[in-house]
Amino acid sequence: GDTTYKQPYRPQYHFSARANWINDPNGLVYYDGEYHLFYQYNPFGIHWGHMTWGHAISRDLVHWQELPPAIAEENSTMIFSGSCVVDKANTSGFGQDGRVPMVAIYTGAQPGNQSQHLAYSLDKGRSWIKYTGNPVIDLKQKDFRDPKVFWYEPAKHWVMIVSLPTDKKALFYKSSNLKDWTKASEFTAPDSPATIWECPDLVEVPVDGTMERKWVLLLSMGNNGPAGGSGMQYYVGRFNGSAFVNESKPGEVRFVDWGKDYYAAVTFNNLPRRGNRGAISISWMNNLQYANDIPTSPFRGAMSLPRELRLAKVPTPATHYELRQLPIQELKPLLSTSFQWTGTDVAQLNESILNNGLLGDTYCLQLELEATKTGVGVRVKKEEASKGKGDETVIGYDPSRQQVYVDRSRSGNVSFKKEFPGRFTAPLKPQNGRISLQIWVDRSSVEVFGNDGEVTLTNQIFPKPTSKGIEFFGEGLRSVLIRSVEPIWK
Ligand code: FRU
Repeated sequence: GDTTYKQPYRPQYHFSARANWINDPNGLVYYDGEYHLFYQYNPFGIHWGHMTWGHAISRDLVHWQELPPAIAEENSTMIFSGSCVVDKANTSGFGQDGRVPMVAIYTGAQPGNQSQHLAYSLDKGRSWIKYTGNPVIDLKQKDFRDPKVFWYEPAKHWVMIVSLPTDKKALFYKSSNLKDWTKASEFTAPDSPATIWECPDLVEVPVDGTMERKWVLLLSMGNNGPAGGSGMQYYVGRFNGSAFVNESKPGEVRFVDWGKDYYAAVTFNNLPRRGNRGAISISWMNNLQYANDIPTSPFRGAMSLPRELRLAKVPTPATHYELRQLPIQELKPLLSTSFQWTGTDVAQLNESILNNGLLGDTYCLQLELEATKTGVGVRVKKEEASKGKGDETVIGYDPSRQQVYVDRSRSGNVSFKKEFPGRFTAPLKPQNGRISLQIWVDRSSVEVFGNDGEVTLTNQIFPKPTSKGIEFFGEGLRSVLIRSVEPIWK
């Protein structure tokens, strides 16, 4: 059979390229029955370089098919991150014979200069033609990148948000034809802990339980992330087609994810309207501190699960909006229940797990727990034969600190970079005395969603392939649901 996706650390239900290096997701867009996932890709190797847009498509956002690279590096211009739009009204004039153009807006990166470029496709993203009028915006800057373009319906124009990373500024531009852009505004936040902002995105998100929608500004921080190294923060506010007005509390930093491996997330354009559904994002599951060193082969880098983004209106201390993130509903068909338990006796739970021969490669855990005095949690990817010194990744709740944590200090191969091992935490308060944790375990990652997406922690792990044990510990566990996740690769 095909062993392409069978390597020990090969993600079984997350996207990774068959071979070579990948980083940021690019050009997330839906068009005519297909979701497109482009991504930063090195066609020639397993380290960063020769940046090209790799390409995969899906009909359900879950099963991906890798296609040949879409937009290739040319001469000394690398194709850095950017976005894709579907130009239905042919505002760009790239359309021909009634064929709707898909337009990619990306950064052309040369030594010493980064500027914004266009390419278009008339065959559903299979082949691309670079615009002869490139670049469309050139500020003669060394660092100026990652354009996210979307259609702003109320004013019927295109909007671009693009970053001056080292100035920590997000710039807004407007255009009627994707070719001619005028600057509309700037956003900055001097009190952000980041010193570099990359991959900005601005997206309108529904507020749960209301008819309201608010705008969320997503920013990737090159450093000073919540778990060290790179990470992401967000602001919530208003947008009028020209300027973003932050309504989050001044000085307040809100992190998108509290784990170490959540970077460069952006959202889909042109999603089919389905009720009041939220935005959908995908991130690169990695950290700039060690992305070039993770011990996988012949591929390096993977994407997070797609998430639905919603907002909660939180009344205290003063009314404000917080991001809520959960894996998309489309993942449900991959799940099948293999074990269910309710009770109080954790020893008995562990015994029945052993008796059932439950060993996990790819699965989703749902835990309900009471925040009692002692800690409570689960060890996953646990090495069986070891006497307490083997592989394990610990996910738990610490009631005294009101924190959920992931400890990957002994998660397998952690020694390839000193910044890799560690214990990472997120603040989480019990609701009516209870905490719920949804934990998605794949061969080389663990994504934790606390209290229906109030906080998330995404972390890579590299356990031995034989480390498959699941073991619960502590007091307060009330129910456990283990569902296996079917691999997406045939
Ligand atoms: C973020 C990033 C982007 C850039 C791309 C280059 O990881 O540095 O700012 O466009 O990667 O690969």
